[in-house]
Amino acid sequence: MKILFVASEAYPLVKTGGLGDVLYSLPHALHDRGADIRLVLPGYRALLRQLEQVRILGWLDVRGDAGMVTARILEARHPDFAFPLWLVDCPPLFDRVGNPYVDATGQDWPDNAERFTVFSRVAALLAQDALDLGWQPRVVHTHDWQTGLVAAFLAEQPVRPKTVFTIHNLAYGGHFSHSDFVRLQLPSQWWSPEGAEFHGGFSMLKAGIVYADAITTVSPTYAQEICTPEFGYGLDGLLLSRQYKLHGILNGIDTQIWNPSTDPLLPAHYSMSRIQPGKRRNKQALLERFMPRADDDAMQAPLLGLVGRLVEQKGIDWVLAALPVLLAETDARIVLLGSGQAAYEQKLARLARQHPDRLFVEIGYDESLAHLIEAGADLFLMPSRFEPCGLNQMYSLRYGTPPVVFKTGGLADTVVDADETTLADATATGFVFGSSGVETFLEAIHRGLDLYRQPSKWRRLQQSGMSRSFDWNESAGHYLSLYSI
Ligand code: ADP
Ligand code: GLC
Repeated sequence: MKILFVASEAYPLVKTGGLGDVLYSLPHALHDRGADIRLVLPGYRALLRQLEQVRILGWLDVRGDAGMVTARILEARHPDFAFPLWLVDCPPLFDRVGNPYVDATGQDWPDNAERFTVFSRVAALLAQDALDLGWQPRVVHTHDWQTGLVAAFLAEQPVRPKTVFTIHNLAYGGHFSHSDFVRLQLPSQWWSPEGAEFHGGFSMLKAGIVYADAITTVSPTYAQEICTPEFGYGLDGLLLSRQYKLHGILNGIDTQIWNPSTDPLLPAHYSMSRIQPGKRRNKQALLERFMPRADDDAMQAPLLGLVGRLVEQKGIDWVLAALPVLLAETDARIVLLGSGQAAYEQKLARLARQHPDRLFVEIGYDESLAHLIEAGADLFLMPSRFEPCGLNQMYSLRYGTPPVVFKTGGLADTVVDADETTLADATATGFVFGSSGVETFLEAIHRGLDLYRQPSKWRRLQQSGMSRSFDWNESAGHYLSLYSI
């Protein structure tokens, strides 16, 4: 089956979060099951400079903001990818320094409407084999608002592939103005409440929801949540009316990259049958990133870790409120890695300066430190207010680092709370708090710290998390059956 993937990021070439991880691991899982894949990505400068074997497939002219824009389509083979990559090389839109979506000050690129409209127009043409390559996909699988218009452009065509649109995060809607809509000469019939129009402007995410043949989101619980006002960002009514084509399919993880017994980014390896001393050596290495020597006190004390985007979604305000309590009432050490909203970054950095031997904060993006935190911490904190799926909690389960999570979205679907029953039948994998707020978050952390002091129970908890597979097996099967309908 030929499947065209269209996305704005893919690990390891360009990644800002879990979207990038999934755009690497899902197409590979499908490729392993015999699917013939092409992955279309924007030709960002940072991406193109990592490619060596590139050939030009052709040129496509599409409407941009102020007239026609030419995109060169490149095909690249990259050692990390088992299938060809197709790049939309359009220097005025993508050849610039920095992040795919925002400039150096964190503001959205002012021409994002044009960038992702052109990208989607080109992808829709490639889906119809406009370059006469003799490669006609049966399915086009698009991801998040940046690709929402692909299904809409294809819906205009009498003969076309099936379209599947995956919502990785409903909070990012791709909202643009009416004047963008006009300048980009988008089809006037989309301008209606039944189309892409949204609160006086238009939403690329909404276009994907309306015009795709099937919509998926990345966990069963989130598929239900987004049909409610609390999580729906104004699209809950629409999603409810489209439930017949909405599917919640849990993300898998790449179990080769995220494997504590082989991970090349770790100083020591370990597995479920022998967690210590490997995990301990990772803990020591992690602590010694931040202090000259990890003494006995530091090694004995529980180490809490967090990796993530520092945004409201991730419950960072709860973390900020919990930290002083944890520092005052427990002997825990805490290590945090992330970047995001400047106010969170500054508050965390300030607190860390006040507690240099207890709280370690690294602001930035660091793939290898992320792996070391998953392996070296004792407990992993992920109190997200909402979480479409979440990958970090699955990584931490696999690394024997029980997570503390809020009961929402994919966190609710992947972590089993440790209570008397689940501890007794060895199904417990972490600590789940069910009502929002810092009090309940702290209470769950305290439950974690109590259990940490009971080594045999703790080991069983680690082992039951590590024994969960979280690979793509089941979910890749769900996608293949959806493509085949
Ligand atoms: P989201 O996609 O909402 O950010 P996920 O849990 O699905 O959340 O995925 C986050 C991914 O990004 C994980 O692979 C995580 O390790 C990685 N990540 C997030 N922040 C950082 C960071 N500051 N440094 C390194 N990796 C990070
Ligand atoms: C989004 C979500 C996250 C999910 C990831 C991959 O970034 O915030 O929950 O795991 O996409 O699907």
